[in-house]
Amino acid sequence: MPYLTEDRSSDVDAAASRKRAPMLIDDLNWRYATKKMDAGKSVSEDKVQAILDALRLAPTSSGLQPFEVFVVTNKDTRAKLSEAAYGQQQLVDGSHVLVFAAWDNYTAERIDMVRDETGEARGGVSDNIKEYYKNLKGNYVGRDAEVNFQHAARQAYIALGVAMVAAAEQKVDTTPMEGFEPAKFDEILGLRAKGLKSVCILPLGYRAAEGDWLNGQAKVRRDPKVLFTHVA
Ligand SMILES: Cc1cc2nc3c(=O)[nH]c(=O)nc-3n(C[C@H](O)[C@H](O)[C@H](O)COP(=O)(O)O)c2cc1C
Repeated sequence: MPYLTEDRSSDVDAAASRKRAPMLIDDLNWRYATKKMDAGKSVSEDKVQAILDALRLAPTSSGLQPFEVFVVTNKDTRAKLSEAAYGQQQLVDGSHVLVFAAWDNYTAERIDMVRDETGEARGGVSDNIKEYYKNLKGNYVGRDAEVNFQHAARQAYIALGVAMVAAAEQKVDTTPMEGFEPAKFDEILGLRAKGLKSVCILPLGYRAAEGDWLNGQAKVRRDPKVLFTHVA
């Protein structure tokens, strides 16, 4: 049975969570996967920066951050990307498209780069740091490239989630998308030469006043009794 957010006032867990973090829950209820953006409105650079700052802080497995994010504002490029996203209009009617592109593989060079950055931030590459990244290379380098790419892609999704929440806090609308042709995106943005493959995208903009069938619809989420199992 669908769990309607609007009807959950009697639910003890939901009420408790609203009490703990009312603003976050309000933001999450406010956001939705916007189907029609207002082509006349642009997201300001400070709001975009706040979203990027937040997604940069998303945690990732072993802290590798094995992805890059392309912030596309160019109109012609967004039109091409929209075509490669089955014509989804949010890419052109919004003002920015974030393209999350994961490392195509884990390599010794990439892991050494993170090791050195860690050393730089933490006062030098200690023996512990050296050992940690040596083990990581032992586990990842030489593993099947597709397995490594899929692992990297999962890390990009964590950042996608953080970006959506950060956007909601900024009252910026977003549409998370997997409905696009990654090979075409890779071609348009020249990702292959950089050892990257697109995995998910996030148009940013403002919901149109009219013409969005999803605007105002109740949220449908699974019943917490089914979603959560408390093992006390
Ligand atoms: C990874 C991912 C991919 C999605 N792909 C698309 C997409 O290509 N086009 C679209 O309109 N919505 C897409 N959605 C939106 C979901 O359908 C939507 O988030 C879900 O139904 C929950 O509704 P809400 O986001 O409005 O709360 C995607 C969502 C996620 C998280």
